[in-house]
Amino acid sequence: MKPLLEVSDVVIRFAAHNRIAAKLSGQPSSIEAVAGVSFALEAGRTYALVGESGSGKTTLARAITGLVPIHSGRIDFAGRTISGLTETALRPMRREIAMIFQDPIGSLSPRLTVRSILAEPFKVHGETMDIDGKIARLLDDVGLPAHFVQRYPHQLSGGQARRISIARALALRPKLVIADEPTAGLDVSIQGEMLNLMRDLQRKLGITFLMITHNLNVVRHVAERMAVMYLGRIVEEGRTSEIFRSPRHRYTTALLSANLKADPDAASYVIEAEGETPSLFNRPSGCEFHPRCLFKRDICRTEMPKEQFISTDHRFSCHNPA
Ligand SMILES: Nc1ncnc2c1ncn2[C@@H]1O[C@H](COP(=O)(O)OP(=O)(O)OP(=O)(O)O)[C@@H](O)[C@H]1O
Ligand SMILES: [Mg+2]
Repeated sequence: MKPLLEVSDVVIRFAAHNRIAAKLSGQPSSIEAVAGVSFALEAGRTYALVGESGSGKTTLARAITGLVPIHSGRIDFAGRTISGLTETALRPMRREIAMIFQDPIGSLSPRLTVRSILAEPFKVHGETMDIDGKIARLLDDVGLPAHFVQRYPHQLSGGQARRISIARALALRPKLVIADEPTAGLDVSIQGEMLNLMRDLQRKLGITFLMITHNLNVVRHVAERMAVMYLGRIVEEGRTSEIFRSPRHRYTTALLSANLKADPDAASYVIEAEGETPSLFNRPSGCEFHPRCLFKRDICRTEMPKEQFISTDHRFSCHNPA
């Protein structure tokens, strides 16, 4: 079966804020926030992207929705190449891929009522028939009462705001929904409600989810497949059960042990590794994780590890795997 979404060798670059200063200090004039990433999503399933802050998760998600241009590589969706399309050509595809943004309250315009927020996607796509009926159905989909149409974002709890973000994403009945940190900042019980809601919507509407999260407990419970990102690259990828059972990359093992110990939804991991995440302006030589790795060998300093495929369900890049 062809995947619904296929990301092939995607590179995304950003210019340095101050190119002249960068040049003078010998730094590169651009960074690769995403540095050659490939993965595929099967329809109707949930795929998780994990990795520390700054590893390129949101940037990749924004590129899939067409909000950020890619430098090279290809993105295919539902049998069509969508990377490099003009805005006009991309327009019909925009209905099919929706994003729930990382900061739910911040991404809802404070001056708009829930009604206006939920009416927006219909207006943008020229749908004018029965908007109130459609909004009522959306609120029902996400388990909120109909009278919420009159509320403003500041009158919503974190969980309710998240539900409105989900409702807005569902408005045009997309095939793919990208959820950026959908449980961050929520109480554990509300997190559970949110995950159940997403699972119910997946069953009911056949939605494919790309979930971005710091919370590996969430990944384990909802995602069939996952990718671990480090400095804009996938260092380990495959079936979630397989990676949890036998993680190979030393970064993955560090993340797993940290996540199982610490607050699972903390904004950053305290991983069992040395030092800080390196800057994208100054990528380490060899394996880019080596300066932090407790298991490094000489080769790790000089040679970037090649990707090894254990099976179609598991690949990783590490010289001295677990
Ligand atoms: N518009 C931009 N211009 C320049 N650099 C950017 C831009 N957007 C993101 N970056 C940089 O790209 C890198 C990846 O950022 P990104 O937001 O994708 O990370 P993330 O994995 O989503 O992190 P978090 O977990 O904190 O949300 C970071 O170094 C960030 O500073
Ligand atoms: Mg992010």
